[in-house]
Amino acid sequence: MEVKNIKHIGLVGGGLIGASFALAFSLGGFNAHIYTRSKKTLEASKEIIENSLDELIKYSVKKEDDKYEILNRISYTNDLYEAIKDSDYIQESLKEDYDIKRKVLADVEKIVSSEIPIGSSTSGLKASEISRDMKYPERFFVAHPWNPPHLIPLIELCKGEKTEDKYLCIAKELFEKINKTPIILEKEVFGFVGNRIQAAVFREVLNLVINGVVSMEDADKAVTFGPGIRWGIMGPSLILELGGGSEGIEGFMKNIGSSMELWLEDLADWNKLPISPEEIGKLTSQELKDRNKEIGNDRKSLGEYRTKMLIEFLRLHKKI
Ligand SMILES: NC(=O)c1ccc[n+]([C@@H]2O[C@H](COP(=O)([O-])OP(=O)(O)OC[C@H]3O[C@@H](n4cnc5c(N)ncnc54)[C@H](O)[C@@H]3O)[C@@H](O)[C@H]2O)c1
Repeated sequence: MEVKNIKHIGLVGGGLIGASFALAFSLGGFNAHIYTRSKKTLEASKEIIENSLDELIKYSVKKEDDKYEILNRISYTNDLYEAIKDSDYIQESLKEDYDIKRKVLADVEKIVSSEIPIGSSTSGLKASEISRDMKYPERFFVAHPWNPPHLIPLIELCKGEKTEDKYLCIAKELFEKINKTPIILEKEVFGFVGNRIQAAVFREVLNLVINGVVSMEDADKAVTFGPGIRWGIMGPSLILELGGGSEGIEGFMKNIGSSMELWLEDLADWNKLPISPEEIGKLTSQELKDRNKEIGNDRKSLGEYRTKMLIEFLRLHKKI
């Protein structure tokens, strides 16, 4: 299988992630065929895609004239066979549940040939476990997106114990072709890369807030207008390469390394939430109330602001 021969993408599961993936593949010129299990989920899938595309048109990423061509490359069905019979690549985005994924994958394997790569959108399940009962587990791996995949570039490709490298290489090239940024994980770890980093940062945000050092609002400002705005340009290692002046990151570590060890010793190291989800929700509601409408002060306006800013940022990175 060569990526240049891939034309049809089968989307198994068309919820939030499957639908957005279908749009991402259609935007990249591929035919995207969505399987969902009921008429209701099929309609929901259509709605997600049409609203997301309207947003892209609103922010001039796409033209109104392109709309029907993009939509026409996407098909919807409640018949798994119809959705995937011609697939050259399959993206599974079913509910986060081993039994459901395993059961549907067994049906998928009865329809497509043993050479067709299958990526899973799972956020936290292991490729080796999902593919435990598969006949051809060597073509199965995790292809973890970030929500929504038609906008966020990162795709974390993670091997299972039996995954063959050639399938990850195909997936990498395929995602690059639709202007995503795939990375490869050589070992199975919980949370892959992005979620581990996100959890580490959020743990420290909560730690500072509950210890009375800063408000949630100021901790969020610190991330957004400090390290976060720089990390959106390049990763923490390259930022520190610049932080060390003429000696680069090596100089930075020589100069600041021992101070950093003091901070590290003082950081939170708990692995259970120290306060309840309700208490965390209250802290964030307070923060939302104090914001201006134009930068989002409820969930709806916050989401709209995030999309608008994300599109500006993706334009700078030439990712849209
Ligand atoms: N939502 C996120 O932010 C996010 C981000 C990255 C990855 N993911 C992962 O993507 C996958 C899908 O998540 P989502 O947010 O799209 O969920 P969702 O609930 O929106 O969609 C799940 C899909 O699975 C289908 N489904 C549920 N039970 C089924 C069954 N018994 N048989 C067949 N189909 C069934 C639903 O009809 C729906 O199409 C999950 O593995 C999730 O961990 C989610």
